[in-house]
Amino acid sequence: MFDTIRNAYSWYRDPYGFLDQRIGQGIYDFKVDLPGSNGAMFVGTPDLVEEVARNKDLSGGTGLRFVQPFTGPRALIVIAGDEHRNRRRPIQQMFYQTENQQMMELTEKYFDLGARDLKPDEPFSILEFYEQITLRTIIDFVLGVNEPEHEQILRLLQQWLQSFESPLWLFLKPLQQDLGSLTPWGRFLRGRSAVSRWISDRLESTPANSASVLGHLIAKRDNGNLRISNEDLVWQCIELLLFGHDTAACGSAWVTMHLLDNSMMQSPNLESPAYREACIKEAMRCTPMVIHVTREAVADTRVGGQSVRKGQKVFPCAYLAQHHRDYYEHPEAFDPNRFLNGNSPDRYAWFPFGIGSRICVGMPFATEQMKILLQRTLELGRLEKLTIGKTTPVRKFIIMAPKDGGLVRYRSFN
Ligand code: HEM
Repeated sequence: MFDTIRNAYSWYRDPYGFLDQRIGQGIYDFKVDLPGSNGAMFVGTPDLVEEVARNKDLSGGTGLRFVQPFTGPRALIVIAGDEHRNRRRPIQQMFYQTENQQMMELTEKYFDLGARDLKPDEPFSILEFYEQITLRTIIDFVLGVNEPEHEQILRLLQQWLQSFESPLWLFLKPLQQDLGSLTPWGRFLRGRSAVSRWISDRLESTPANSASVLGHLIAKRDNGNLRISNEDLVWQCIELLLFGHDTAACGSAWVTMHLLDNSMMQSPNLESPAYREACIKEAMRCTPMVIHVTREAVADTRVGGQSVRKGQKVFPCAYLAQHHRDYYEHPEAFDPNRFLNGNSPDRYAWFPFGIGSRICVGMPFATEQMKILLQRTLELGRLEKLTIGKTTPVRKFIIMAPKDGGLVRYRSFN
């Protein structure tokens, strides 16, 4: 019991540090007692990660019940089997286009809007700057709204998002008490209802096949190619709005902070698109925002020769695999060359977007968006960081972000 509490505290307070302790001992796969995990198994050796990805007794979705208050009980990330496959297909069609013109135009538009408020020499959080851009982009992309609806739903979402900035009660069920709008959980529930009511009204007035994910899903449903209720459509939009902005913003913030930490912001190499892409991949290797994915044993099984009982959780862990000394020389160093000149890591040694059939449905969308954000940031002016030493990673909801959102300022090129 004491060990479980100590592990939980250390894992909650400093997840990278918790894993670094094992990495320092050359341990990449281990079992540990964490609350609610029935004895979790972390897996960071790429061969074992592949074994987990292929093991049919280890199911995705079911182990993620804790996200249901945010995404609803039938969101893509929590459903499994045929229902998951059928729902995923039409969503993937919208997010897997490599040249996603609409996303590119929206990202550029909202970058310009945000950049108008930046003043030379004034401190700002690079993460907050990117979040505004990615949130506005995903709102238009998913819901197909224009002014003034855009501002309405933006405000409702921002109010809701602020209500769960501290993730502690997310993991502690007893704190999930609705004691009115003055309590965190009460504020959370009211914020969620306001967002879902707004989307539900929007659903009524969205024509099938209008230029948005929602319009596309309605068309698929009307053609009989997707079975989904109105209520689940609303939840589906909420899931995409939540996962579709914070992650890409945070990924971009990490790229910027790694470049600043390593005094590489002025490097002429950054003029090359291939080099910029390598920087993005390397940042996602060093500081994967989603530390691990989750699989739950639906039957007794084995991983790496060790028994895993039904109900136990297995965590294929991007942070462990991406810092494995047999796969990366000096894994602690930020080195984009790992992804250049034909170099690319083993498939299961780099997986910031997850593995197998549940790999992130927004991966190409987010990757392209991060490329635009980096390029536009470099054009903005000479960026400087305002903190001393290497940027500290901190928990932000369920992802890892730079401390204080990465405090920076820029000096104009003129
Ligand atoms: C850099 C940006 C992103 C990162 C690092 C990231 C990471 C991940 C990871 C690791 C998973 C797998 C979770 C699991 O196996 O349990 C995942 C799933 C998912 N992501 Fe992303 N994501 C990003 C951007 C996005 C965007 C832009 C969207 C918007 C569509 C999105 C929507 C989703 C959804 C809906 C799932 C569930 C997929 C499924 O279960 O089939 N993500 N993401």
